[in-house]
Amino acid sequence: MREFDLVLHGATGFTGQLAAKELSLYAPPALRWAISGRSEHKLQELGEKHAVPYLVADGLDAPAVQRVADSAGTVISCAGPFQEFGTPLVRACAHAGTHYADLSGELGWIWQLIQELHPVAQERGACIIPASGFDSVPSDLGVYTLAETIRQSGDAIGDITGFYRLKGGLNGGTLASGVSQSRHYSPEDLQHPFLLDPDPTQSWDNRLMPPEREKVFEVRGLRSFAAPFLMAPVNERVVRRTAALLSGTSNDYGNDFCYSEFHRSSDKAKAKQISAALTMTNWALNKPVLTKLIERFGPKPGEGPSEQVRTTGLVELTLLAGDIDNPGHRLDWFFPGDPGNTVTVRCLVQVGLSLAAGESRATGLQTPATALGARLTERLFERDALLNSA
Ligand SMILES: NC(=O)c1ccc[n+]([C@@H]2O[C@H](COP(=O)([O-])OP(=O)(O)OC[C@H]3O[C@@H](n4cnc5c(N)ncnc54)[C@H](OP(=O)(O)O)[C@@H]3O)[C@@H](O)[C@H]2O)c1
Repeated sequence: MREFDLVLHGATGFTGQLAAKELSLYAPPALRWAISGRSEHKLQELGEKHAVPYLVADGLDAPAVQRVADSAGTVISCAGPFQEFGTPLVRACAHAGTHYADLSGELGWIWQLIQELHPVAQERGACIIPASGFDSVPSDLGVYTLAETIRQSGDAIGDITGFYRLKGGLNGGTLASGVSQSRHYSPEDLQHPFLLDPDPTQSWDNRLMPPEREKVFEVRGLRSFAAPFLMAPVNERVVRRTAALLSGTSNDYGNDFCYSEFHRSSDKAKAKQISAALTMTNWALNKPVLTKLIERFGPKPGEGPSEQVRTTGLVELTLLAGDIDNPGHRLDWFFPGDPGNTVTVRCLVQVGLSLAAGESRATGLQTPATALGARLTERLFERDALLNSA
């Protein structure tokens, strides 16, 4: 029995405060939850607002984060960039057998965690789920759900292709994480398509890759055009880790499975603009002088989009199985609210509540789908009517 069922770390940041509000609205009344972070005065104010206790713990203070990990059954974290402040807390949770989830989309850091902490987390009974925000919960659970539908129809699970239509704004914390990743890893370090697999060196050769496509291409089945998607490198690799971890189980995606993901636009010219903007962003993030300018003129850590932008935002995910112009199966999910805050916080909080309720099915470094599977989808449904059709 720990002092708290759940601790929200990094609670005083932009997403952290939204997560605290979400918990205060949706946590079961009996849940013993608390907040933690580095700034005592902000924690005190937030703690009073939600009538919850707080713990002071700088992410780089190993004994302090150990106290957080020891005090809780589950920790969820919004304290990023995770590459900069995140590792001691995940390490402490893995060793204490404390379940943990966060908002990281920092591929290199997640890879590092898998290398260091998967065995110890398994041994101590901790379920660790990075990428529990907009990246990569909808993609990972969407593929898991569609794969189940295909399996039940008796068809084989082959190519699944994801298309996102999005509306929202950019957080300073997200920008800081992108800059941090570019400082620690080169694009070559992260290009391996199976980077997050249990053994990337083996799976490179014997797993299928998605078909090669033009940068911008027409998707007749959706009457749309597709462009490269900013979060695809993370989402695709998380989904592939899920496929690898499920291999040999009753949820096996099969040997013909592969996944790729794109941005969707109804207009070809807009799709070309999205593609060009992404190429420019990736180029700029790898030029130290330009990253300094991005940091200077972009939104700062602690800043994020207005309430109006957040509430009028949206996430639409469509997954097509087989030929994208004539798909055999299809899944459409709609999430109201902006991807980087409203949807992100909803996902993280439901992952945390599910872990705190003892619903995880695996230990070690997991993905949302391998750890919580259909139960997490149900929770997201229960939280709101999210699913349009499957
Ligand atoms: N997965 C997704 O879809 C998604 C979406 C949005 C954001 N994110 C990620 O989530 C993270 C947070 O984003 P955000 O917009 O909330 O950023 P933010 O407003 O800058 O918040 C960062 C949080 O980290 C805390 N922090 C900073 N240094 C710390 C340290 N040394 N020890 C402990 N806490 C520390 C900050 O504390 P103070 O309040 O004291 O400054 C703050 O609570 C970022 O990494 C971002 O990339 C992911």
